[in-house]
Amino acid sequence: MSTPEIVRTQHDLRGQVREWRGCDLSVAYVPTMGALHGGHLSLVKLAGQHAHKVVVSIFVNPAQFAPDEDFEAYPRDEAADMARLASTGCDLVYVPRPGSMYKAHHATRIKVGRVADGLETDHRPTFFEGVALVVTKLLNRVMPDYVIFGEKDYQQLAAIRRLVEDLDMPVKVIGAPIARDEHGLALSSRNVHLDEDGLVIARQLNGIMHTCAERIRMGHEVARATAQAKTGLLAAGFSGVDYIRVADPDTLEPVLHGHVQGQPLRLLVAARCKGVRLLDNCAVRGLADAQG
Ligand code: PAF
Repeated sequence: MSTPEIVRTQHDLRGQVREWRGCDLSVAYVPTMGALHGGHLSLVKLAGQHAHKVVVSIFVNPAQFAPDEDFEAYPRDEAADMARLASTGCDLVYVPRPGSMYKAHHATRIKVGRVADGLETDHRPTFFEGVALVVTKLLNRVMPDYVIFGEKDYQQLAAIRRLVEDLDMPVKVIGAPIARDEHGLALSSRNVHLDEDGLVIARQLNGIMHTCAERIRMGHEVARATAQAKTGLLAAGFSGVDYIRVADPDTLEPVLHGHVQGQPLRLLVAARCKGVRLLDNCAVRGLADAQG
Protein backbone atom coordinates (compact mmCIF):
# COMPACT_ATOMS: atom_id res chain seq x y z
CA MET A 1 0.00 0.00 0.00
CA SER A 2 1.29 3.47 -0.84
CA THR A 3 0.31 7.12 -1.29
CA PRO A 4 -2.91 7.38 -3.28
CA GLU A 5 -3.23 9.44 -6.46
CA ILE A 6 -5.11 12.78 -6.34
CA VAL A 7 -7.64 13.86 -8.97
CA ARG A 8 -9.26 17.29 -9.02
CA THR A 9 -11.72 17.12 -11.90
CA GLN A 10 -14.88 15.08 -12.57
CA HIS A 11 -13.32 14.04 -15.87
CA ASP A 12 -10.29 12.45 -14.19
CA LEU A 13 -12.35 10.93 -11.40
CA ARG A 14 -14.84 9.33 -13.79
CA GLY A 15 -12.05 8.12 -16.09
CA GLN A 16 -10.39 6.21 -13.25
CA VAL A 17 -13.64 4.76 -11.90
CA ARG A 18 -14.68 3.73 -15.44
CA GLU A 19 -11.35 1.98 -15.91
CA TRP A 20 -11.85 0.01 -12.67
CA ARG A 21 -15.39 -0.91 -13.65
CA GLY A 22 -14.06 -2.17 -16.99
CA CYS A 23 -11.94 -4.62 -14.98
CA ASP A 24 -14.98 -5.69 -12.85
CA LEU A 25 -13.58 -3.96 -9.77
CA SER A 26 -16.05 -2.66 -7.15
CA VAL A 27 -15.67 0.78 -5.55
CA ALA A 28 -16.26 1.96 -1.98
CA TYR A 29 -16.30 5.67 -1.22
CA VAL A 30 -15.64 7.75 1.91
CA PRO A 31 -16.75 11.42 1.67
CA THR A 32 -14.85 13.71 4.06
CA MET A 33 -14.17 17.37 4.68
CA GLY A 34 -10.51 16.64 5.36
CA ALA A 35 -8.77 17.30 8.70
CA LEU A 36 -8.48 13.54 8.74
CA HIS A 37 -8.07 11.68 12.02
CA GLY A 38 -8.21 8.09 13.20
CA GLY A 39 -11.99 8.04 12.81
CA HIS A 40 -11.75 8.78 9.08
CA LEU A 41 -8.95 6.25 8.68
CA SER A 42 -11.17 3.58 10.25
CA LEU A 43 -13.83 4.42 7.63
CA VAL A 44 -11.25 4.03 4.86
CA LYS A 45 -10.15 0.67 6.24
CA LEU A 46 -13.77 -0.48 6.45
CA ALA A 47 -14.28 0.68 2.85
CA GLY A 48 -11.40 -1.56 1.80
CA GLN A 49 -13.14 -4.55 3.37
CA HIS A 50 -16.16 -4.03 1.11
CA ALA A 51 -14.71 -3.26 -2.30
CA HIS A 52 -11.67 -3.70 -4.50
CA LYS A 53 -10.99 0.04 -4.78
CA VAL A 54 -11.42 2.90 -2.30
CA VAL A 55 -12.06 6.56 -3.17
CA VAL A 56 -11.88 9.30 -0.52
CA SER A 57 -13.04 12.85 -1.25
CA ILE A 58 -11.90 15.95 0.58
CA PHE A 59 -14.21 18.93 0.23
CA VAL A 60 -15.15 21.48 2.90
CA ASN A 61 -18.75 21.99 1.85
CA PRO A 62 -19.85 25.62 2.27
CA ALA A 63 -23.51 24.65 1.83
CA GLN A 64 -23.65 22.90 5.22
CA PHE A 65 -22.26 25.83 7.21
CA ALA A 66 -24.54 28.62 8.40
CA PRO A 67 -23.16 32.17 7.95
CA ASP A 68 -22.21 32.34 11.66
CA GLU A 69 -20.44 28.94 11.65
CA ASP A 70 -16.78 28.04 11.27
CA PHE A 71 -16.48 27.51 7.48
CA GLU A 72 -13.42 29.76 7.17
CA ALA A 73 -11.82 28.39 10.35
CA TYR A 74 -12.52 24.75 9.51
CA PRO A 75 -9.10 23.00 9.60
CA ARG A 76 -7.63 22.43 6.11
CA ASP A 77 -4.29 20.72 5.46
CA GLU A 78 -4.21 18.70 2.26
CA ALA A 79 -0.58 17.58 2.64
CA ALA A 80 -1.24 16.23 6.15
CA ASP A 81 -4.43 14.52 4.94
CA MET A 82 -2.55 12.86 2.07
CA ALA A 83 0.17 11.68 4.46
CA ARG A 84 -2.49 10.15 6.73
CA LEU A 85 -4.12 8.37 3.80
CA ALA A 86 -0.86 6.68 2.79
CA SER A 87 -0.97 3.00 3.70
CA THR A 88 -4.68 2.98 4.57
CA GLY A 89 -5.70 1.19 1.40
CA CYS A 90 -7.12 4.33 -0.23
CA ASP A 91 -6.58 4.20 -4.00
CA LEU A 92 -7.77 7.62 -5.14
CA VAL A 93 -8.39 10.98 -3.47
CA TYR A 94 -10.87 13.32 -5.12
CA VAL A 95 -10.30 16.97 -4.18
CA PRO A 96 -12.79 18.99 -6.23
CA ARG A 97 -11.72 22.55 -6.97
CA PRO A 98 -13.77 24.84 -4.67
CA GLY A 99 -15.53 26.70 -7.51
CA SER A 100 -16.49 23.51 -9.35
CA MET A 101 -19.08 22.26 -6.87
CA TYR A 102 -21.59 25.11 -6.83
CA LYS A 103 -21.67 27.17 -10.01
CA ALA A 104 -23.08 30.71 -9.97
CA HIS A 105 -26.43 29.51 -11.41
CA HIS A 106 -26.86 26.63 -8.93
CA ALA A 107 -30.50 26.58 -7.77
CA THR A 108 -31.30 23.04 -6.57
CA ARG A 109 -32.04 22.21 -2.95
CA ILE A 110 -32.59 18.79 -1.38
CA LYS A 111 -34.56 18.48 1.83
CA VAL A 112 -34.75 15.19 3.71
CA GLY A 113 -37.81 15.19 5.94
CA ARG A 114 -38.62 13.56 9.30
CA VAL A 115 -35.39 11.79 10.18
CA ALA A 116 -33.51 15.03 9.51
CA ASP A 117 -35.99 17.09 11.56
CA GLY A 118 -35.23 17.95 15.18
CA LEU A 119 -31.95 17.20 17.04
CA GLU A 120 -29.19 18.82 14.90
CA THR A 121 -31.72 20.69 12.78
CA ASP A 122 -33.06 22.49 15.86
CA HIS A 123 -29.57 23.99 16.26
CA ARG A 124 -28.32 24.04 12.66
CA PRO A 125 -31.48 24.53 10.57
CA THR A 126 -29.84 24.34 7.12
CA PHE A 127 -27.15 21.75 7.90
CA PHE A 128 -28.82 18.65 6.46
CA GLU A 129 -29.93 20.45 3.30
CA GLY A 130 -26.28 21.25 2.68
CA VAL A 131 -25.17 17.71 3.48
CA ALA A 132 -27.89 16.09 1.33
CA LEU A 133 -26.98 18.33 -1.58
CA VAL A 134 -23.25 17.73 -1.51
CA VAL A 135 -23.59 13.99 -0.84
CA THR A 136 -25.98 13.65 -3.79
CA LYS A 137 -23.58 15.54 -6.04
CA LEU A 138 -20.57 13.58 -4.82
CA LEU A 139 -22.34 10.23 -5.24
CA ASN A 140 -23.32 11.24 -8.78
CA ARG A 141 -19.71 12.05 -9.49
CA VAL A 142 -18.04 9.02 -7.90
CA MET A 143 -20.79 6.45 -8.67
CA PRO A 144 -19.55 3.99 -6.01
CA ASP A 145 -21.03 0.63 -5.06
CA TYR A 146 -20.68 1.43 -1.35
CA VAL A 147 -20.52 4.66 0.62
CA ILE A 148 -19.28 4.75 4.21
CA PHE A 149 -20.44 7.15 6.94
CA GLY A 150 -19.47 7.16 10.60
CA GLU A 151 -22.07 6.49 13.29
CA LYS A 152 -20.65 9.43 15.23
CA ASP A 153 -22.82 11.70 13.11
CA TYR A 154 -25.75 9.37 13.67
CA GLN A 155 -28.50 11.66 12.40
CA GLN A 156 -26.45 12.38 9.28
CA LEU A 157 -26.11 8.64 8.65
CA ALA A 158 -29.87 8.13 9.15
CA ALA A 159 -30.66 11.07 6.83
CA ILE A 160 -28.32 9.73 4.12
CA ARG A 161 -29.92 6.28 4.35
CA ARG A 162 -33.31 7.93 3.80
CA LEU A 163 -32.00 10.09 0.94
CA VAL A 164 -30.45 7.12 -0.86
CA GLU A 165 -33.55 4.97 -0.46
CA ASP A 166 -36.01 7.73 -1.38
CA LEU A 167 -34.10 8.79 -4.49
CA ASP A 168 -33.34 5.20 -5.64
CA MET A 169 -29.63 5.84 -5.64
CA PRO A 170 -27.73 2.69 -6.68
CA VAL A 171 -25.35 2.62 -3.72
CA LYS A 172 -25.25 0.68 -0.46
CA VAL A 173 -24.82 2.86 2.65
CA ILE A 174 -22.57 1.39 5.34
CA GLY A 175 -22.45 2.78 8.88
CA ALA A 176 -19.11 2.52 10.67
CA PRO A 177 -18.72 2.26 14.46
CA ILE A 178 -17.55 5.34 16.37
CA ALA A 179 -13.76 5.58 16.78
CA ARG A 180 -12.74 6.87 20.22
CA ASP A 181 -9.52 7.95 21.85
CA GLU A 182 -8.09 5.95 24.76
CA HIS A 183 -10.30 7.95 27.16
CA GLY A 184 -13.50 7.28 25.21
CA LEU A 185 -13.80 10.67 23.48
CA ALA A 186 -15.33 10.25 20.02
CA LEU A 187 -12.77 11.33 17.41
CA SER A 188 -13.79 14.49 15.56
CA SER A 189 -12.00 17.09 13.43
CA ARG A 190 -13.17 19.77 15.84
CA ASN A 191 -11.39 18.14 18.82
CA VAL A 192 -8.25 20.03 17.74
CA HIS A 193 -9.92 23.18 19.09
CA LEU A 194 -10.03 21.72 22.63
CA ASP A 195 -7.31 22.87 25.00
CA GLU A 196 -6.10 20.62 27.83
CA ASP A 197 -8.89 21.64 30.23
CA GLY A 198 -11.41 21.20 27.43
CA LEU A 199 -10.15 17.68 26.73
CA VAL A 200 -10.53 16.71 30.40
CA ILE A 201 -14.15 17.87 30.32
CA ALA A 202 -14.92 16.43 26.88
CA ARG A 203 -13.65 12.99 27.87
CA GLN A 204 -16.43 12.69 30.44
CA LEU A 205 -19.15 12.78 27.82
CA ASN A 206 -18.87 9.13 26.84
CA GLY A 207 -19.11 7.86 30.44
CA ILE A 208 -22.08 10.08 31.34
CA MET A 209 -23.87 9.07 28.14
CA HIS A 210 -23.31 5.35 28.71
CA THR A 211 -24.47 5.61 32.33
CA CYS A 212 -27.66 7.26 31.08
CA ALA A 213 -28.17 4.54 28.45
CA GLU A 214 -27.61 1.84 31.05
CA ARG A 215 -30.12 3.43 33.43
CA ILE A 216 -32.74 3.53 30.68
CA ARG A 217 -31.98 -0.04 29.75
CA MET A 218 -32.46 -1.06 33.38
CA GLY A 219 -35.92 0.53 33.36
CA HIS A 220 -35.34 4.06 34.70
CA GLU A 221 -37.80 6.64 33.43
CA VAL A 222 -36.45 8.29 30.24
CA ALA A 223 -37.07 11.96 31.13
CA ARG A 224 -35.51 11.45 34.54
CA ALA A 225 -32.45 9.58 33.25
CA THR A 226 -31.77 12.18 30.53
CA ALA A 227 -32.28 15.07 32.98
CA GLN A 228 -29.74 13.43 35.34
CA ALA A 229 -27.27 13.08 32.47
CA LYS A 230 -27.74 16.73 31.54
CA THR A 231 -27.06 17.76 35.15
CA GLY A 232 -23.99 15.50 35.11
CA LEU A 233 -22.65 17.10 31.94
CA LEU A 234 -23.09 20.63 33.29
CA ALA A 235 -21.44 19.61 36.57
CA ALA A 236 -18.53 18.13 34.58
CA GLY A 237 -17.90 21.54 33.02
CA PHE A 238 -19.88 21.49 29.76
CA SER A 239 -21.17 25.00 29.09
CA GLY A 240 -24.41 23.76 27.54
CA VAL A 241 -26.30 20.68 26.42
CA ASP A 242 -28.11 21.20 23.12
CA TYR A 243 -29.91 17.87 23.48
CA ILE A 244 -29.72 14.50 25.13
CA ARG A 245 -32.44 12.48 23.48
CA VAL A 246 -33.61 8.89 23.24
CA ALA A 247 -34.92 7.98 19.79
CA ASP A 248 -35.87 5.13 17.52
CA PRO A 249 -32.59 4.00 15.91
CA ASP A 250 -33.96 4.16 12.34
CA THR A 251 -36.61 6.89 12.22
CA LEU A 252 -35.15 8.97 15.10
CA GLU A 253 -38.72 9.47 16.39
CA PRO A 254 -38.09 10.78 19.92
CA VAL A 255 -38.99 8.88 23.07
CA LEU A 256 -39.33 11.62 25.65
CA HIS A 257 -40.98 9.89 28.61
CA GLY A 258 -41.75 6.52 30.08
CA HIS A 259 -40.05 3.21 30.71
CA VAL A 260 -38.66 1.66 27.57
CA GLN A 261 -36.97 -1.43 28.93
CA GLY A 262 -36.50 -3.98 26.18
CA GLN A 263 -36.70 -1.67 23.15
CA PRO A 264 -33.62 -1.15 20.98
CA LEU A 265 -33.17 2.64 20.99
CA ARG A 266 -30.43 5.20 20.40
CA LEU A 267 -29.27 7.87 22.83
CA LEU A 268 -27.98 10.99 21.05
CA VAL A 269 -26.14 13.88 22.68
CA ALA A 270 -24.85 17.29 21.58
CA ALA A 271 -23.02 19.28 24.24
CA ARG A 272 -20.80 22.34 24.20
CA CYS A 273 -17.37 22.35 25.79
CA LYS A 274 -15.11 25.41 25.71
CA GLY A 275 -16.71 26.68 22.51
CA VAL A 276 -16.56 23.28 20.78
CA ARG A 277 -19.78 21.47 19.98
CA LEU A 278 -19.39 17.73 20.59
CA LEU A 279 -21.71 15.03 19.25
CA ASP A 280 -21.90 11.49 20.54
CA ASN A 281 -24.39 8.63 20.66
CA CYS A 282 -24.74 5.05 21.76
CA ALA A 283 -27.19 2.19 21.65
CA VAL A 284 -29.67 1.74 24.48
CA ARG A 285 -29.63 -1.98 24.13
CA GLY A 286 -32.90 -3.83 24.54
CA LEU A 287 -33.12 -6.59 27.11
CA ALA A 288 -33.08 -9.26 24.39
CA ASP A 289 -29.86 -7.75 22.90
CA ALA A 290 -28.26 -7.39 26.29
CA GLN A 291 -28.96 -11.00 27.24
CA GLY A 292 -28.07 -12.39 23.82
O1 PAF B 1 -19.47 14.17 7.79
C1 PAF B 1 -18.85 14.96 7.05
O2 PAF B 1 -17.64 15.09 7.11
C2 PAF B 1 -19.63 15.81 6.05
O3 PAF B 1 -20.88 16.16 6.54
C3 PAF B 1 -19.78 15.12 4.68
C4 PAF B 1 -20.59 13.85 4.76
C5 PAF B 1 -18.40 14.81 4.10
C6 PAF B 1 -20.49 16.05 3.70
O4 PAF B 1 -19.78 17.24 3.51
